[in-house]
Amino acid sequence: MFFGRTYENYIGGKWVSSSSGKTFMSYNPTSGKPIAKFQLSNEDDVNKAINAAEQAFPAWSEVPPPARGQILLKAAEIFKKRKKELGKLVSTEMGKVILEGEADVQEAVDIFEYMAGEGRRLFGHTTTSELKDKFAMTIRIPIGIVACITPWNFPIAIPAWKISAALICGNTIVFKPSSDTPLCAIEFVKVLEQAGVPSGVVNLVTAPGNTFETAIKDDRVRGIAFTGHKDTGKRIIEIAGLKKVSLELGSKNAIIVMDDANLDLAVDGVVWAAFGTQGQRCTACSRVIVHEKVKEEFERKLVERVKKIKVGNPLDPKTEMGPVVNKAQLEKITKYLEIGKREGARLLHYGGPQKGLYFLPTIFTDTQADMNICRDEIFGPILAIITCTSLQNAIDIANSVDYGLVSSIYTKDIGNAMRAAKKLETGITYINAPTIGAEVHLPFGGVKKSGHGREAGILGIDEFSEIKTIYIDYSGRLQRAQIEPYLKKK
Ligand code: UN1
Repeated sequence: MFFGRTYENYIGGKWVSSSSGKTFMSYNPTSGKPIAKFQLSNEDDVNKAINAAEQAFPAWSEVPPPARGQILLKAAEIFKKRKKELGKLVSTEMGKVILEGEADVQEAVDIFEYMAGEGRRLFGHTTTSELKDKFAMTIRIPIGIVACITPWNFPIAIPAWKISAALICGNTIVFKPSSDTPLCAIEFVKVLEQAGVPSGVVNLVTAPGNTFETAIKDDRVRGIAFTGHKDTGKRIIEIAGLKKVSLELGSKNAIIVMDDANLDLAVDGVVWAAFGTQGQRCTACSRVIVHEKVKEEFERKLVERVKKIKVGNPLDPKTEMGPVVNKAQLEKITKYLEIGKREGARLLHYGGPQKGLYFLPTIFTDTQADMNICRDEIFGPILAIITCTSLQNAIDIANSVDYGLVSSIYTKDIGNAMRAAKKLETGITYINAPTIGAEVHLPFGGVKKSGHGREAGILGIDEFSEIKTIYIDYSGRLQRAQIEPYLKKK
């Protein structure tokens, strides 16, 4: 891996330049300096990638899943060996701190190991028949060619979630990473190449989103897996036709802090969830719903802790927060600072934009649930505190947004915790833990406008396979379901 060079697309097992003859640059958000050049791919390149995936599909889908699993296991080993180096790359290209950069790679190790094991499971079910000498079962078959479109905030982990599952199920893949983190994607694909993924099975094109629409529309592409902004998700649904689509979109996650909560624990959780990765996670906490009885004490402890957050170079192990990913992101976050002020929310702690792409932790309090800062996904280190008077009130506030990915509650009352876990309208709820911390062997995904489908875990397999039902009749005669069992015996 070296910086300053021009990287190519990976199509049909070869590194190739775009026929556009154009490139774009990726930048280091900490220094503002360019990292490397990448292919500004056009429709022709996307088509070539689909052609390669089409050619590779028959052979790859016939490879026994345990043998596919061996390749995935090898990939997991390589990720493990390269964890430090790739972690550093993630931090350099995207700006998250080194500990989180390495965790990004660890998540890839974990999911590749997990999905490798699926090669010996990929369970269907066997069941009875209403007819004699007949039985039924289901098997899993690949979808075909799938397009994986991934974001910059987890530039190794999220491609790993999607591509490991897609591979074990026997699909071939056209992969379009975010244009903010193309080098992470290149290195990701190199790991797969080295692990022995055959030519044409995974094809990488670095392309603008609108160019890649050609893959979403192409009839040969049967599945789309996307993580990113909800407006892009909506656009994908509009143009994907009848393809199988899984969407992981944004959120507006809340942490509820009840009056019996361990406040120090809650403060630790809120700080990690709101300001980790600079708030740029779909799992980030951007609302705290705190009980009026403990609001003052919680706020005092929170501000004390937030003042100590070390912001700086993400490669310095002491740094807790790095820069945000790019200028557009910084501008969007700054816009919400102004919106919050205009809406009359009180600034409990002001951080705001700094030199370069830095934005310091910022907390609004005395906010109302219907303010834009409490409803819109900001994807940055701005936190809104809302006061509640009871558990029901807290749940109503939490559920008042369009999104529903993650929620969390801090309480010592097991009954309240369980009531909240059932009633909070999110795909994931944490009890006495922050909104971030998803593990790869459990399903991940949201409800409402946070998308649909579940990634990772056993259900991750569902997104990348179809269920085929097989009936076997060994009676040697025509048996009609719904009829034979009810015919009167003569
Ligand atoms: C995302 O924010 O897009 O639980 C994914 C977490 C991580 C995954 C986050 N393991 O925050």
